[in-house]
Amino acid sequence: MNNYSINSLEQYFKIYRKSIRKPKKFWGEIAENNFTWYQKWDKVVEFDMQKAEFEWYKNAKLNITKNCIDRHLANKGDKTAIIFEPNNPEEPSKYITYNELYKEVSALSNVLRDQGVKKGDRVCIYLPMIPELAYGMLACARIGAIHSVVFAGFSSNALSTRINDSECKLVITSDGGYRGAKTINLKGIVDEALTKSPSVERVLVVKRTDAEIDMQSGRDLWLQPLIDESETTSKAEIIDAEDPLFILYTSGSTGKPKGMVHTTAGYMVFTAYTFKNVFNYNTDDVFWCTADIGWVTGHSYTIYGPLLNGATTLMFEGTPSYPTYSRFWEVIQKHKVNQFYTAPTAIRSLAKERIEFVQNFKLDTLKVIGSVGEPINEEAWHWYNDHVGNKKCPLVDTWWQTETGGIVISAIPFVTPTKPTYASLPFPGIKPVLMDELRNEIEVNQKIGNLCIEYPWPGIARTIWRDHQRYIDTYFTKFPGKYFSGDGALRDEVGYYRITGRVDDVIIVSGHNLGTAPIEDAINEHQAVAESAVVGFPHDIKGNALYGFVVLKEVGLWRDRNNLIKEINQLISDQIGPIAKLAKIQFVTGLPKTRSGKIMRRILRKIAEGEKSEFGDITTLVNPEIVEEISRESL
Ligand code: WTA
Repeated sequence: MNNYSINSLEQYFKIYRKSIRKPKKFWGEIAENNFTWYQKWDKVVEFDMQKAEFEWYKNAKLNITKNCIDRHLANKGDKTAIIFEPNNPEEPSKYITYNELYKEVSALSNVLRDQGVKKGDRVCIYLPMIPELAYGMLACARIGAIHSVVFAGFSSNALSTRINDSECKLVITSDGGYRGAKTINLKGIVDEALTKSPSVERVLVVKRTDAEIDMQSGRDLWLQPLIDESETTSKAEIIDAEDPLFILYTSGSTGKPKGMVHTTAGYMVFTAYTFKNVFNYNTDDVFWCTADIGWVTGHSYTIYGPLLNGATTLMFEGTPSYPTYSRFWEVIQKHKVNQFYTAPTAIRSLAKERIEFVQNFKLDTLKVIGSVGEPINEEAWHWYNDHVGNKKCPLVDTWWQTETGGIVISAIPFVTPTKPTYASLPFPGIKPVLMDELRNEIEVNQKIGNLCIEYPWPGIARTIWRDHQRYIDTYFTKFPGKYFSGDGALRDEVGYYRITGRVDDVIIVSGHNLGTAPIEDAINEHQAVAESAVVGFPHDIKGNALYGFVVLKEVGLWRDRNNLIKEINQLISDQIGPIAKLAKIQFVTGLPKTRSGKIMRRILRKIAEGEKSEFGDITTLVNPEIVEEISRESL
């Protein structure tokens, strides 16, 4: 990044002010000075907040892979682009140079072309954290196909729903995947999904576990033989700034998952600039983001942000607890990691283990440590800061969302003084506002409000795949003229933001966003269930866990409660994935409902949190007596 590097607090304020006063000039200069373009833009930005229409770098032409790979080859061809650290520590790590990355991505892009994938086609990638996942994304981008990565922990139903929503033509998967002591049969899950996904014509299969799998003739092909026959150079398609780069599904508070669409130029500029500044990346540093690439954090900060900066990025296939609770620290020591970016849930799960698990390792290469995905509580913050950062690494608590494309509120290391539990100051170009329920801006400090953003930034999602109205309704309607994040926040006296959590029916469990509606749908599929409501409650390690209130049909008939609980959780696992299983299930005879038939979740949330008597105003309920009953029998 050749300009607008933030090196002091004074400079931050100067750059910030400029970015807000003259956003076009600001984002224009960053785009101008740091990337390769086939053709420059006519306008930096054109937008309409009411209609949720955003065009950044209008009419510019580029290919993001030229920026992630090709332009580094002259000076950094032999530099490691990706370090692959396998699940099993006995298996050797792989070091993939930029030259090798170029060849792999080119070969795979040629395979995709040969299989009939064209610009604008959707390709689903359902892979474990292995290098082919990175190659797959970049190969799509090379030819202008739109990748839709689905987290490999999702069930076949969830996979099929996502494939169908964006009508993917091709799936890239593997025979299986390793995660800790487990082996997962990914191909089997894909086979099942495809019985309900007719748009898929071709499945390319990576060999990872050597598991015995079925290959459906005419549809499934092993990837490696095709790669071996392919050319290792590939022409990069000319892509318009606003052509979609990827679709990534995120949970909504209602109904089916939202296919958030990110386009090419704005996403590129935003992830590159945020990566450089939020992690203070310097040449030769080794950067490690532990997020799975199935989530946006992996897209923006394992793949695109680092590669756009010519960085070395580490991809880790395993889990923090396998083979021991030292694995993260062992990997940091082994690869001399300089920037480490993880989630509070991982920190909390490791902090509860013996301190020797971390103390026995040399972590002194670390310069910056980061947190993302959910609010980091004070205790976890201090443990991370003291034992991992050794009190010398700035801890950047980065707030952002799938929808924002990249980090929007965060400290800048060595620049912004950090404050536990505060994400701190907005990134240049970002203008946060807090709004109250009456749609007035909250001017005072220390009051929780709805966190909105006033002006667009290059990384903002452009739409929900083929459902623009839902995009408008979800993010741009409640507070007209502003982007509404769905999070609550407060601002302290110096202007630091503290994120307080979701204000809608999305619950963040171990850093994964889960909508309550699809979970309730899964529960209601059980033949014994009449209806159900799911809420979150605080959990020491996961941040939140799920509590289900379930009303049974003909109560007397269902005596084996333990079995019922198992079956309900199995249904959730099948429909969504094991991450959405309920920690507690309480069978109730009714749910608190308003006259209009709406479940009053506020009350259920209080009960789940252990509240016994203070439920506020319950006079609007048709069945106020149920509250006492549910609370008396709560778990
Ligand atoms: C939450 C992940 C507090 C928030 C990048 C947001 C956070 C949701 C933080 C988006 C943070 C993310 N502090 N809460 N530093 N970062 N969140 O789409 O509720 O998977 O709305 O994107 O995670 O989750 P998503």
